[in-house]
Amino acid sequence: MTTKILDVSDLNNEMLERAYVVGDEAAQAKVEAAITLVREAGHALAGGSLVAFPTETVYGLGADAFNEDAVGRVYEAKGRPSDNPMICHIGRASDIGELSTMLNPKMIRLMDNFWPGPLTMIVTKRDDVPAVTTGGLDTVGVRLPDNPVAIELIRAAGCPIAAPSANLSGSPSPTDPKHVIEDLDGKVDYILVGNKSDVGIESTVLDMTVTPPMILRPGVLTAEMLGAAVGEEVAYDAHLLYNDKEHASDANGEIIAPKAPGMKYKHYAPNAQMIVVEGHRDKVKTEIERLKSLNEQLGQKVGVLLFEEDEYIRAAQEFYSRLRALDEDGGDLIIAGALSYKDGVGFAVMNRMMKSAGYNVVKV
Ligand code: TXA
Ligand code: MG
Repeated sequence: MTTKILDVSDLNNEMLERAYVVGDEAAQAKVEAAITLVREAGHALAGGSLVAFPTETVYGLGADAFNEDAVGRVYEAKGRPSDNPMICHIGRASDIGELSTMLNPKMIRLMDNFWPGPLTMIVTKRDDVPAVTTGGLDTVGVRLPDNPVAIELIRAAGCPIAAPSANLSGSPSPTDPKHVIEDLDGKVDYILVGNKSDVGIESTVLDMTVTPPMILRPGVLTAEMLGAAVGEEVAYDAHLLYNDKEHASDANGEIIAPKAPGMKYKHYAPNAQMIVVEGHRDKVKTEIERLKSLNEQLGQKVGVLLFEEDEYIRAAQEFYSRLRALDEDGGDLIIAGALSYKDGVGFAVMNRMMKSAGYNVVKV
């Protein structure tokens, strides 16, 4: 298949401001040209095509959420297990009604505070949302993304867009259009080339069908922030709190399966071996140096992934692209320094880091 790769990077907030607030005509022409291309892709998507597009979190691979055949082809293009439900992206908050009849004051507070933005709400699904879109569940994940290309695409398509991250299943999520081209060129109909993703890790997934609401996947919107908006403590799926190979067990010794099916797969894995060093900051740095020189003496090419302790937002932004870059360097081993789990964003990055490393951890 030939993939149409369209540069729509002029459709961004800065250019929109120059075009329509400052009144710069050259900027207006560029923005309008980009909108025309996005609409072409949106109309194709409504006709069953697959379109990769930027969002503020990571790039997504979209299909009409109501088109079973197109949604099936998304699984094929990614090489993804088909029991993994997709998030449905909408172009305005009120369009949640196309997917769900559930609406309550807590949801409205969350929409007011965090939409558009990196929050996915799990709600009961309408009967006409296909089972293939929700992985056979009777709930659906809904998100209003904060990216002008994504919004224009959804509105042009005129339907909710089911979209997982636009990477091959098992490789790091794409935060840069070049990652999408690497993974999906020749496998999808369109790739919309926008800017790099601002947030860098996927949306927080919050289950609204339970009381209190429960976080199934951590993100940059943390339990504290969501809890403050809904006025009650927001819980984490117990599975998320155990960042080791053993699964969390309940009081009867039964394994608690993660409620977001996507969380159970080995995810975001780089090609290189990866190890996480966890502990007191100074000791972590010393241990990383020790492991690095030891492995280099053994003839291994070693990459280091270490963020400053207070740079959580930046760590989230750069995490996946740094993994890809280290992989492209052809390294044999990646040694990563753990971030603090006590910080909500640190916790979200650690969720990905530990999975990427296959829970391979050294404590110092
Ligand atoms: O930021 C994001 O959320 C990105 C962009 C493209 O929007 N999308 C994304 O999609 O990360 P994906 O498919 O890679 O991850 C979706 C996650 C999975 O862990 C999945 O199991 C969970 O959301 N999920 C989706 N629908 C669900 C449902 N009805 N119940 C429980 N978990 C659900
Ligand atoms: Mg994904």
